[in-house]
Amino acid sequence: MSEPSSHTAVLDPILERYRRRPTYLLQILREAQVAWNHLPPAALTYIASALGLPRSRVEGVASFYSFLHTKPAGRYRVLFSDNITDRMQGNMELMDHLCHKLWVERGKVSEDGLVSVGTTSCTGMCDQGPAILVNERAVTRMTRARVEEIADLIRSEVPVAEWPEEYFAVEDNIQRRDILLGNTLERGDAIRAAIARGPEDTVERASNERSWRESYLAVARGPTETLDEIKRSNLRGRGGAGFTTASKWEACRNALGEARYVVCNADEGEPGTFKDRVLLTRHADLVFEGMTVAAFVLGAEKGMLYLRGEYTYLLERLEQTLAARREANLLGRDIAGQPGFNFDIEIHVGAGAYVCGEESALIESLEGKRGVPRNRPPYPVTSGYLQQPTIVNNVETFAAVALISAKGGDWYRSVGTNKSAGTKILSVSGDCQRPGIYEYPFGVPVEQVLHDCGAQDTQAVQISGPSGICIDDSEFRRRIAFEDLPTAGAFTIFNRSRDMFEVARNYAHFFAHESCGFCTPCRVGTTLLRDTMDKIHGGHGTQYDINDIFSLNRVLQTASHCGLGHTACNPLFDTLQKFRPTYERRLQSLDFQPAFDLDGALAAARQMTGRDDAGAHLTREA
Ligand SMILES: Cc1cc2nc3c(=O)[nH]c(=O)nc-3n(C[C@H](O)[C@H](O)[C@H](O)COP(=O)(O)O)c2cc1C
Ligand code: SF4
Repeated sequence: MSEPSSHTAVLDPILERYRRRPTYLLQILREAQVAWNHLPPAALTYIASALGLPRSRVEGVASFYSFLHTKPAGRYRVLFSDNITDRMQGNMELMDHLCHKLWVERGKVSEDGLVSVGTTSCTGMCDQGPAILVNERAVTRMTRARVEEIADLIRSEVPVAEWPEEYFAVEDNIQRRDILLGNTLERGDAIRAAIARGPEDTVERASNERSWRESYLAVARGPTETLDEIKRSNLRGRGGAGFTTASKWEACRNALGEARYVVCNADEGEPGTFKDRVLLTRHADLVFEGMTVAAFVLGAEKGMLYLRGEYTYLLERLEQTLAARREANLLGRDIAGQPGFNFDIEIHVGAGAYVCGEESALIESLEGKRGVPRNRPPYPVTSGYLQQPTIVNNVETFAAVALISAKGGDWYRSVGTNKSAGTKILSVSGDCQRPGIYEYPFGVPVEQVLHDCGAQDTQAVQISGPSGICIDDSEFRRRIAFEDLPTAGAFTIFNRSRDMFEVARNYAHFFAHESCGFCTPCRVGTTLLRDTMDKIHGGHGTQYDINDIFSLNRVLQTASHCGLGHTACNPLFDTLQKFRPTYERRLQSLDFQPAFDLDGALAAARQMTGRDDAGAHLTREA
């Protein structure tokens, strides 16, 4: 299918649907790829000309995202999620078994172009791994039996859409609810509470659910008062950095611009995090409601939800929720009968790039570009999407906003600690009996979470994923809170049978794979860290390598362009501080050992020339 006419037939409807706008380039490429299982050169040329973009720009975008393929990639593309929890559940053995069954090499496309099998970074299914993606659809709870069934389906060329539905079941695994996951709000409650100005003296904060519902119309506010309510709540962002939400919104509101934008960050790429997946499955209305409240405060007319490619299976349901909200006049024009309150939300789907969770990279991606983080300042609040004032907030932050709008800032602030208001949703996985989603008021001690999820003999917890902090058993009384252990949500548990060096090595591979390559300290630094960990793993490490890790940490922290580089050494640094023997027992000597085994590399040449005398070796006396 490479003649121009077929490009017209396939691509024109897609281009039309996106009104031939370059900002939709990523969406167009994603959809175009379905026709050919990759993006042929002629299709890229056609798209470039239709969008009026240089071809190099289109090719640059197509080559940036790991779910886009500029070369044939197999009609069935199987990717094994390769987070540490997948490893702990035996993903590598399952992958080898599948490769064996399908006669295909890891990372290669089969000779007949039928299938490729490889790995991908964490797919956000850590509570039900090992997981795989087949043509970007998640399959959970992989077993040897399921591998064999899938091999049969692929060999028989059964379309993925006809595979048994149960393969694609994704469980929510909500294990503990609090004010957010247990909320009883109805669609529109938060908007109605925000929308119209009511006399201050009618503000009445009822303490129980029934009387609150009766009085919420009486506490209805306006944009400024709603912002004040968010201020009073002391809400801080749930995406990791913990920035005060009201300050971000106020800066955006005060910035000069022709339009303002509300962006919801559902990229959720941090290994070990999956709470946004569950929020979007169970509480999408609340998230959209929070975005709409933000639009009301800022005067924004357009919102965008950036959904990670691994969660494409949620797209249809999310679109249905948006349609129902339009139907209920909670999106669209004159929302909830408020003249001039116009706002709508569209969903953009990512394509496998962790760095796109960084807010400025995410904005670049929304604009149809490579997801390379921008220079900051200017910050998105003054110059974001299309250089206009933009707020980017996490999924959980928007859900909390809806709750605050409906029930008031003081009410929200009464939960949690002095410096960390409200609750935090944790994605608990690893060595425990009940992995899943746990919502706690801020301030909960780590040992409480371990107890609740049935963890035993725990030696370490990785809080907030590889970019966060690894704590050992002397620290389990520490608390989940901005003033002690801040977290975006990942809570990954390792019992004493686990080798913490291997945990850190897995994370080093993750960062090297996900570095966008824009700045040298991170591009080279993360590669060196990965290679050093592999060298130590291979039994060639020395004290020099350990010293190198500390030097690389300094370079990455001081010279990297964005947060990915700043945090890339954290897992190595923490495990070296807290689990040093696991490194030391692998060290061969204190003397320098080269990372590259030159004599070993000459083995093939020796074999080909039939020589094995001393002169053909570097290490033996000639
Ligand atoms: C490499 C990298 C990846 C990130 N990934 C996410 C993500 O998946 N989701 C998210 O909400 N924030 C992520 N962030 C943080 C965002 O840049 C931003 O701070 C956040 O979306 C702001 O929302 P909040 O104020 O509600 O926390 C990431 C940051 C970095 C440096
Ligand atoms: S620090 Fe890494 S991810 Fe961030 S811009 Fe530099 S190369 Fe890209």
